[in-house]
Amino acid sequence: MITLLGISGSLRRQSYNSQLLLQLRELLPEGVELEVWDGLKDVPPFDEDDEAAGPVPAAVSRMRDAIAGADAVLFSTPEYNHSVPGQLKNALDWASRPTATNVLRNKPVAVVGASKGAFGAVWAQADLRKVLAAAGARVVDGEVAVGHAHERFDESGALVDESLREQLGEVVDALVAETRPRVAVAA
Ligand SMILES: Cc1cc2nc3c(=O)[nH]c(=O)nc-3n(C[C@H](O)[C@H](O)[C@H](O)COP(=O)(O)O)c2cc1C
Repeated sequence: MITLLGISGSLRRQSYNSQLLLQLRELLPEGVELEVWDGLKDVPPFDEDDEAAGPVPAAVSRMRDAIAGADAVLFSTPEYNHSVPGQLKNALDWASRPTATNVLRNKPVAVVGASKGAFGAVWAQADLRKVLAAAGARVVDGEVAVGHAHERFDESGALVDESLREQLGEVVDALVAETRPRVAVAA
């Protein structure tokens, strides 16, 4: 079984990004499961003094364990002022430590996003990919930009746009492919 961890960048109870991750469960290939992480709000502000004094806060340990235990991580991020919401960035700063052995290093990750604006959080997604790459994650290609998110889900929470569902499926497939060991080809 391949395990994906879903991380929503929103703390909002009715978040479109959290909803997007739940919708993804329907698009998973056989043998793949998705667990949605719900600990983002508990992560304290990153402070190098706290880090040096130790121990690591329990919420940070739980986040690191969740990432380390997953074969890949799928992020769905809102856009706040054309970038990544602060609490998600803060959590990734904790996740990126210690630099050489951090849990994101070599981890396959993908980024999608939803926003109420027309562009579907594309700037936040780009910034998030940059941050993840800086931490050493293997960021897979593919973008899903759910613009006008308030018009894209029905009352049951289902994503009503078929083309977006297809794009999400493609990102999941690319992410799952990245978890498979690469076979060296002899010259
Ligand atoms: C502080 C703040 C800044 C925002 N900035 C943007 C923005 O730059 N671009 C955008 O499309 N929407 C922006 N929005 C609106 C979000 O797209 C909207 O709140 C969306 O529902 C957030 O995602 P969520 O439903 O997953 O919480 C902003 C919202 C907040 C609260």
